[in-house]
Order: sequence, then structure tokens, then C-alpha cells
Amino acid sequence: MEGKKLLITDTILRDAHQSHAATRMKFEDMEEVLPLLDEIGYYSLEAWGGATFDSCLRFLNEDPWDRLRNLRKYLKKTPIQMLLRGQNLLGYRHYADDVVESFIDKSIENGVGVIRVFDALNDPRNLETSIKAIKKYGSSGKCVCEAAISYTTSPVHTTEYFVNLAKQLEDMGADNICIKDMANLLLPFTAYDVVSKLKKALRPETKVHLHTHNTSGTGDMINLMAIQAGVDIVDCALSPLGNGTSNPATEPLVATLKDTPYDTGIDIQKLLPIVTHFNNVAAKLEKDGFLNPKVRRVDINTLLYQVPGGMLSNLMNQLKQAGKEEKLLDCLAEVPEVRKDCGYPPLVTPSSQIVGTQAVWNVLLGKYKTITAQYKDLILGKYGAVPGEINPEVTKMCTAHGEEVITCRPADLIADEMKELTDKVKSDGYYEKQEDVLSYALFPEVATNYFKWRKANKTGVDSDLANSVDKVYPV
Ligand code: CO
Repeated sequence: MEGKKLLITDTILRDAHQSHAATRMKFEDMEEVLPLLDEIGYYSLEAWGGATFDSCLRFLNEDPWDRLRNLRKYLKKTPIQMLLRGQNLLGYRHYADDVVESFIDKSIENGVGVIRVFDALNDPRNLETSIKAIKKYGSSGKCVCEAAISYTTSPVHTTEYFVNLAKQLEDMGADNICIKDMANLLLPFTAYDVVSKLKKALRPETKVHLHTHNTSGTGDMINLMAIQAGVDIVDCALSPLGNGTSNPATEPLVATLKDTPYDTGIDIQKLLPIVTHFNNVAAKLEKDGFLNPKVRRVDINTLLYQVPGGMLSNLMNQLKQAGKEEKLLDCLAEVPEVRKDCGYPPLVTPSSQIVGTQAVWNVLLGKYKTITAQYKDLILGKYGAVPGEINPEVTKMCTAHGEEVITCRPADLIADEMKELTDKVKSDGYYEKQEDVLSYALFPEVATNYFKWRKANKTGVDSDLANSVDKVYPV
């Protein structure tokens, strides 16, 4: 058997608790085992970005930048990996280029060693500024630039499409290419095909990194097929928060590959005390109501309907609110129609919500009788270019009041924001460091609430506020 040592990224500090426990793991839940995690020999530990930034500020009264610096204190050998949504950073809109550049500068300065950057639509223009900034601030081995492809299925999303996109991202400067199968739609034999073709098409030094979930129970098989096709790195999560809606568990894969040419070199014995620790953390998260044991079960709805698990529960919630729960199957049939009309975007935040909501309106009120503002923006190009063709009839409806279709990079229309934001945080009296401006840029209200709490806590002026964390922040 031929093969090479497989590298593992463990997501226990980010995606694992984002997928299983609403991103509620606190720094104190991690601190004790960080020195042990650092000794395992992982390629990287995914520990920052994604929803952790928002959750730190909104629910945990933690400054995400402090968390990053504290992680770095313990993780001396293992690179800290973060997930970044391209021009959206960690927020929910497109930001100006100067905000993106400053955010990446500070992320690397404070200790991030691998940045995985992706765009929901796979529009490379939405990754341009971030990739350039990662190369600039992460030069001489300080930070790896990993560009991710959002994996999805549709008539336009062929293996050839993904290979061409990967080559384009490599030419833009990506060191690694990640296949980001956030919805667990990739099937094992397709994984073999995509990985083999990527390995053939990309430069030998470019690493291929696979990120999948185990929602529908196919995750381990996907990883194993990808490994045989030559994948360099896969994402796993330690078993206490692995499997189900999270990433496949780490220990079974390590055991599977032991004494094969793919041997990870990881010593399972060394994982045991860490696993015990996170079993306790998971039990606490369950007791506090953040972890529903259902997330660990195999759920084949994704395979049946080709919609991510989170999108399905959103659809059900929306219908429940309208008292039309019996319309679920109609909505599930409408989703592919709406998605086709807007050029087959991958169904990931925010496009999954945009397509899902429009499908619900179409079913409840009649086809495009109401068009949501977000769906209109998607049609008008404000999120970037979609992979396929947009239905001209839908474009006609969306431009009926003189609206214009944008063909440039969306961020070209956004003026620099950093100066104005800095002035605002300073004049509000909350400025301590440039990172505060970045927190404010992403989540103005949430960051302001946090700053208020921080100030009150430090000065003791408003002791009521300082002591009433639970009232201000429902945890
Ligand atoms: Co994920």
C-alpha cells in the first residue's frame, strides 16, 4: 500500500462546539488541556473565527482578542487556525478593504497561524483582499493562506468547476486549498474523484485540506476515500464533541490509520486525558441547555433534500411561525426552483437563508409575489457573482423599479471605513486598542454592550451593570 502520513486539524476549540453547543465553550473550559493539545502533533488547532468572535462578545463576556492572545500563550508549537468569511470577515455584510486588511493584520499579530478563507458564492473577487493581506502580514512562514471552496451539488458544480476554481485560488496566492463540505453533501466516491483531480492539477507543494461533517453519517467514509486519493490534511473533532452535526471524531481515524502508510503519528494514549476533560465540558454544556443530544444522531435529511441541516430547521421554524407547518414538503420542492432561478449559489450562510426564505414566501403567497430585499440583492449582484445563469424573468422583476445590476466586485463600492470607526469608538470613550475598532466594525451593538460591561467592571462605577452579567447577557 502506498501513501503518506496524514495530517489532522482538530476543531474541538471551534467548529466542534459551534456545531454541537451553539459556540458556548468558554476559554476557561479549554485552558487546562491546552498544553496537552499542544503536544499531540496536530497540523493545526482550529480555535478562532467562525461564530466564536460573535459568541465571545455577545454571550460570554470575553474579548475575542484576549482569547486569541491567551490561546497563543499555551499553544507554542501548534498553529492556531481560524475561519474567515472573506470580505464578510466574521460579520454579516461586506466590509471595506481597509477593515479587511486591518482585521487580518491584527489576527496574525495576535497569534493566528493558519487562516482559512472562503466565500459563500465562491466568487474569487470576494477573497482577493483577504488573500493579499494574509500574504502580506503572514509572510516568511508566519501564517498559512488556506483558500476554501464551498462545496455544493448542482448542474454547474462539476468536479471540473471545483478544479478550475482551486487553480484560480492557487494562482491568487493560496498555500492550501480546502474543500469545505459544511453541509455534508460530498459523498465518499465523489470525494475520491475531487481530491485525486485536485492533487493532479495543483502544484506539488499545495496542500489539499478536507473539511466535512458527519451529519448524515458519511463523514468517516468521506475522509477515508479522500485519504486514499492523496488528501494532505483532514478536519476531525475529539469524540466528546465529534460526529453528528460536528466533524468526524479524531480517535477512530487515528486508530484506523495506525501502522499504515497514512499513520498520523498521533499517540491515542496522549488523547485520553483530553477526551476525559471535554467529556466533562460536554456534559456541562448539555446540563446548561446548549447541547441537545439529538445533534449526535445520524440524520439523512441532507442526503434526501440536498439542503444543509441548519437550513431545514430554519424552514420548519418559519413555517411554524406562519402556522403552515403542513407546507414543508412544498417548500422543500420550491428550494431547488428558487436556487436555480438565482444561479445555483452554494447553500451556506447567508445564501441558505436567502434562498430558504424566498422559497417560503413563494409557497405561502405565490411565486415571486413578494421578493425579499436580500433575494433581490443576490439577483442584483450585491453579494458577488453567482456560479450559474440567473433566470432573466427574475432579473426583470428585480429591476422593475430602475434597480441596477452590479457586475463589479461588491467591495469596490464601499469607501474606506477605518478612520470613521476609530473616531466613533474614541469619541464614545471605549478605545483601548485598535482591535476594539475591529470588534465594533463587525458587531456595533454587541461590541458596545461589551465595552460598557468592560468599563463598568474596570472602574467599578456602575457596579450594578458589572455584577449583573446574566441579566445583560443571557448565557
Ligand atoms: Co464546519
